[in-house]
Amino acid sequence: KKRVVVFISGGGSNMVSLADACAEPGFPAEIVAVISDKPTAGGLAKAEARGIRTFVFERKAYAGKVEHEAAILSALADINPDIICLAGYMRLISGDFIRPYEGRILNIHPSLLPLFPGLHTHQRAIDAGMKIAGCTVHFVTEGMDEGPIVAQAAVPVISNDTADTLAGRVLTVEHKLYPMALKLLSEGKVRMEGGRAVSAQATAPATFP
Ligand code: GAR
Repeated sequence: KKRVVVFISGGGSNMVSLADACAEPGFPAEIVAVISDKPTAGGLAKAEARGIRTFVFERKAYAGKVEHEAAILSALADINPDIICLAGYMRLISGDFIRPYEGRILNIHPSLLPLFPGLHTHQRAIDAGMKIAGCTVHFVTEGMDEGPIVAQAAVPVISNDTADTLAGRVLTVEHKLYPMALKLLSEGKVRMEGGRAVSAQATAPATFP
C-alpha cells in the first residue's frame, strides 16, 4: 500500500473521506499521518479517532516560511510518505518543499480549475453567473491551484444558491472525487509528465449524479 500523509487546516471532511476509502478492503493506499498548520483544526480529532497519527506545525511557532517548511519536511523524512494529499490545507507550499515529492502531491480545490483559483471560489462562480460548478484534484506545482488536472467533478449551480449552499453541494462530490484520484495515483494509473497529467486509460466520469 502507498503511504499517504494528509495535510489539513480545518474540518478535515476530505481527510475523512480519504481515510474511509483507505479502510475499504483492497484500497491501494493507507493514511500514515495527518499534518495540520492549525492546532484548532477539527480534522485532528477525527484523525485521532481513526487511530491516525497527527502532527501540528503552527506557522507562528517558526521564524519564517522556510523554517516552517523545514520542520514539516524533517517530520516527513521520518514518516517517509509515498504521496501527500492536501485537503483543505490553506497554505501555499514552496518549490523547495515540492521538489522531493514532485508528482506525488495532490490538492483538491473547490472549483473547476483553471476557473476561480484561490479564495472565495463559490461566490466568484455565482457572481460570474456560472450554471455549473465543481471541484478539481490536481498535481501540486509551485503556482497556486495551477498544477496538472487529474480529475474533476461537476454539479449544477441552482438559482438562489449562496456561497454556502453551493459549497455544500461541491463538497459532496469532493468526497467522491478525491478518493478516486488517490486510487488512480496509488495504482500508477496517472502520473505527472512534462507538466501534464498522463493517464493510462480513461479516468473518471466527469460528473456524479
Ligand atoms: C474543501 O472544500 C476544499 O476543497 C477546500 O477547503 C475545503 C476544506 O474542507 N480547499 C481549498 O479551498 C484550498 N484552496 P475540509 O477541511 O472539510 O476537507
